[in-house]
Formats: sequence, structure tokens, C-alpha cells
Amino acid sequence: MPMYERNFGEGFLWGTASSGFQVEMGASAEDTDPNTDWFIWARDEANVERGVVSGGLPENGPGFWRYYKQDLALAARKLNNNAVRLSVEWSRIFPEPTTGILAERTYDHRGNLVRVEITQETMKELEQKANQKAVQRYREILREAMKLKLTIMLNLNHFTLPRWLHDPIACRDNFPHSKSRGWIDSSTVVEFAKYAAFIAYTFGDLVDVWTTLNEPMVVSIQGYLVEPSAGFPPGLNDPDLCLQASRNLAMAHALAYEQMKKWDTKTVSKFGPAYVGVIVNPQVYEAYRKDVEEDVEAARSYNYFWNEWYLNAVIHGEYDMNLDMKVEQGEQVQGLIKGCDFIGVNYYNRVMVKGEKTMKDSILKGVRVPAERNVTDVGWEIYPRGLMQIVNWIYQKYRRPMIVTENGIADARDKKRSKFLLRHLEQLYNAITREKVPVGGYFHWSLTDNFEWAKGFSKRFGLFRVDYQSKERHPTRAVQLYSDICSRNALP
Ligand code: BGC
Repeated sequence: MPMYERNFGEGFLWGTASSGFQVEMGASAEDTDPNTDWFIWARDEANVERGVVSGGLPENGPGFWRYYKQDLALAARKLNNNAVRLSVEWSRIFPEPTTGILAERTYDHRGNLVRVEITQETMKELEQKANQKAVQRYREILREAMKLKLTIMLNLNHFTLPRWLHDPIACRDNFPHSKSRGWIDSSTVVEFAKYAAFIAYTFGDLVDVWTTLNEPMVVSIQGYLVEPSAGFPPGLNDPDLCLQASRNLAMAHALAYEQMKKWDTKTVSKFGPAYVGVIVNPQVYEAYRKDVEEDVEAARSYNYFWNEWYLNAVIHGEYDMNLDMKVEQGEQVQGLIKGCDFIGVNYYNRVMVKGEKTMKDSILKGVRVPAERNVTDVGWEIYPRGLMQIVNWIYQKYRRPMIVTENGIADARDKKRSKFLLRHLEQLYNAITREKVPVGGYFHWSLTDNFEWAKGFSKRFGLFRVDYQSKERHPTRAVQLYSDICSRNALP
């Protein structure tokens, strides 16, 4: 019997993470939610033809909307988890626009939107507009998690937007004339603040740990900067749009944070009433050739834009719109420093970057070099040390507690998952005990296989494998290992 001596300390959260859009659909026609941009994007013929997306459709997914009891029981009983990370689908709650519901806006002297006022009156109207059936189902899901003694982390937005806010095909094909432009429009920020207030008010009696957005820089970079083959809507390549989306996504966190603090007044755990963070996906960027200045510069640009830019905005109110890595007067937006109680860290891999002369003037001054060895099914390099480096770096720079909100591996043959899990947890343990980095939990991505965005269903991240025909769940080899670790709160 192995000894379990490397203990993570009292109150450490052990869980799995998933997102609504990726897991909810698939059990019956009833669970299909056609009202998001991704639902449209994933089935668009031109996208499928060009190989931008796989052709896999979210409505063939694992069906969590129906099978939530069974899945949450797997988390609580089979994995011995004490926490779970879930998300709400905005378009299920508000299939129709909320734009007509008045909410006063405040601007600073430079014209930055710094506050949205949600009154009791506004809230009443939001309640009338909300889809009560969806609200009820989410309440059942959350209550079930509570019954199983799982601390809930609830995320408000995981990539998808309601189609009334974003028409990804119109944006792709004719951006100047498109009307619903998602995160490019600052009105989306206003609607997000309303939605955040409503969710905090409606589920605050079941949830204390919240996150506003998942990986905002993936939304802006994959959607607006890197070539369409990244697979994300609307598949444009325009640095100005990318910056604008990034800026609006940072404002969205700020305004939502403020609302959630106001509207969730109920305490259900030691985190109560509202412990609110944002989830980022820092990667380790390194120069492909350490002695080539262009590569070093390229890695620096990736690190700055992917890893720092957003947190600088959210935590310090620094909106570096000209990307000179300095904060000029107009770029410091004091009124948007609302807070961030913790940082959610999604960590997957290390990336080698090579400088490109032609990209000297672009935001990212080089290209990624595909990893050759030691990779997952999506070609990401397995690099456990990076987890320690990243949490350490974030803590040195931003001084916020963290939770690892995602970490996992696409591994259809189930050959590498156990080792991946253990090695990453060892690095996390070292960061916490040796480097004294305050990390309060670990959520593995994911509980079950699910809809892996543009890549569809072939990439299997689940601790439980899903048979998409029968919808049965089967444990992978890592289940026993993770279960033992969670029940002992320690590593073997
Ligand atoms: C995202 C998940 C995704 C996972 C694996 C993360 O970046 O938050 O939605 O499934 O990576 O690609």
C-alpha cells in the first residue's frame, strides 16, 4: 500500500470541471438548445466544408441535462470529490433579448462605461423575461450537487453567446454590415452585467463560489486574431477587433463582479456569500531557439498578450490598447477596478514559439511550433512543471489566491491520463508547500467526455468515457487514482 503523506491541507477543493454547452445536450430532443452562436457555428456548411469545425454536433453530446444525477453521483461517490465546477448557459436562461430592460449606465470622463445600475425594478423585469423551465432545471442540478456535499463553483460564461447577441456567420461573411457582433459591441457588456446580477440573485442561495468568464483571451484571440482554422467564431483575423473584444471582456468581468457582490447576499459555505473570480488560461511560452532574438521576442509577445494583458486590465485597471507594454494616462481606468477575489487557472501545456519577420508588427510576433514528442491527442506538449511555474508567476505578479479550474488530457486510448494527473498534482503540491503559493483547489477537466468545440467528439478528456450511442459512462484508469487522492486529500 502506498503511503499518502503529501497532504494538501484542510479545505482543499477536489473536483472536476465542465461547461453547459459541452455536456448538456444529447439525451433527447428536449435538451437541445439551439439559441447560441456555437450551435449555429458548429453546423454551418461552409465551416464544415473548410474544415474549420469537425461537423460533430453538440446535440449528440453526453446529455447532462437529463443525466445530471448520475453524473454528479460519479463525482461525489466514485471520485470522492468535494466540489464541482459547472456553468450556466446564458441562452437557456434568456433565449430572448434582455436589451429592452432598462438599466442606467455610468461613464467616466473619458467615456468608459464603468457601471450598470440594476435596481429591484430591473430585476423584476429580468425575472419575467427569464425562461423559468431552464431556471428550475438548473436549480435541480445545483440542489443535487449540494445534497451530495459538493461545493459548487458556478461559471457564468464559457465561450458561447446567445444568438440574439452574436450572429457568427453574418460577422464572418460581412462584418461591417452585421448587427449582432458579440463581444465587439459594448452593449454585450451591459447585457452581461444584467445576466450576472440575475444569476447571482437567482442561484445565490445555492452557490458561493462564482466565476464570471472562462478564458476570455481564447474568445478574443481564437475568434479575432489567429486564422479561421482556430475554429472559433466568428473566425476573423483583425488585430483591432481582437483588442476591442479583449477590452470588452475585461469590462464584462468588472461590471459583472460588482453586480454579483450586490445580488448574492446568501451564505451557504465558508466562501459566502459571494467569492467571485475569473478564469484564465496561461500557457508557458518559450523561445524555440533560445539564442535567436526573434524567437525570444515572439515568446515575450505571446506571454504578454495571452497571459498578462487581461489580468492587468481586470486587476489593475490597465487597458494597454496600443500594446506598448506601458500604461499611458488614458489607459488607466480606475473606475473599472472592481475586484477579483481569486484567479481560476486553466493549465494544459507549454508552447514553443518561433519569431517571424513578417509578423513583427502584429500582436503575436511569431508562430507556435508544433510539439513533436510527449503530446496529447490534440498535440499539446505534456509539461507538468509548467503548472508550478504558472501559479508561482501569477502569485508573484498579482498576489491573488488561485484555484486550478481546469487541467486535463485528450487521451482516447487511455494510456497517459493517470501519469498526467499524478505529475501535475505533484507540481501543484510543490508550489503550495515549497513555494507557499495559495492554491485552494484542483478541478480536473473533465468528468465525462464531451463536445470539444471545433474538434467535436473525437478528443476525449473525460475521466469517464462516454459511449455516445448508449450514453453509458465507463471509468478510465485514472478514476481509481484520482478517487484515492481525493479521499485522502493527499498524494501517494
Ligand atoms: C476550455 C474547455 C476545453 C478544454 C480542452 C479549455 O481551454 O475551457 O472548454 O474543452 O480547454 O480543450
